[in-house]
Amino acid sequence: MTAVAASIGDGGSGGCRHLAIIMDGNGRWAQGRRLPRIAGHREGVEAVRRVVEAAPGLGLDVLTLYAFSSENWKRPADEVSDLMGLLRHYVKSEIDTLHRNGVCLNFIGDWRALKPDLVSLLEAAREKTRANSGLKLVMALNYGGQGEIVRAAQALAAEAAAGTLDPAAITAELLESRLDTAGLPPPDAVLRTSGELRLSNFLLWQTAYAEYLVTDTLWPDFDGAALAAALDEFARRERRFGGR
Ligand code: FPP
Repeated sequence: MTAVAASIGDGGSGGCRHLAIIMDGNGRWAQGRRLPRIAGHREGVEAVRRVVEAAPGLGLDVLTLYAFSSENWKRPADEVSDLMGLLRHYVKSEIDTLHRNGVCLNFIGDWRALKPDLVSLLEAAREKTRANSGLKLVMALNYGGQGEIVRAAQALAAEAAAGTLDPAAITAELLESRLDTAGLPPPDAVLRTSGELRLSNFLLWQTAYAEYLVTDTLWPDFDGAALAAALDEFARRERRFGGR
């Protein structure tokens, strides 16, 4: 089958079921317009809305978005507070639409360490959409790939110390089952906007065989057409998973 035929047959995703996105370039988008950085983040939320709406029609089953990294705390306090405010606003204002559209919303990272009111809001959103069978929307919040692997290793070490786990029985699958992403398929592709070529501590374990896609488009300018173009690029890749 040609890549084009394949992408028609699978709703346009070219076989990409799980796409993970590093949403980058909000600051530069704002800077280019002599606006404060918050304006770029606000437009970034609009891009999130557009992409979440377009994703199911393009054949995606899982969309993971890197919304706040464990390293983003290093930003000035007012920017951190703006980002938390936008997250709060997004979940409050979108949850009914997401639910109506069958989206199942979940979170990865140490999100339970966020402010208690935000944690309650996220818990409620998760609970409301838990049984939905449409797009799985996964937001990485206070997320870092190294920290996630450390937490999984600690969980296994605790079991070994308690005598309920033989260290020799630790396999890749067992470690995977203790990651925040347990139960999700690994991403087929990681897309980063704004032309940067870095993984930035995102899904380090899960992206072992993911295709890396990069676009110069700044995140606030990203939309369904840009998503379709990225998935076209994915469809042209030949994946071998270490084989021939
Ligand atoms: C990177 O742009 C983006 C972030 C650090 C956060 C991503 C957040 C959003 C898209 C908005 C919040 C999303 C939700 C769902 C509430 P940058 O600031 O690093 O851009 P720059 O590299 O151009 O400075």
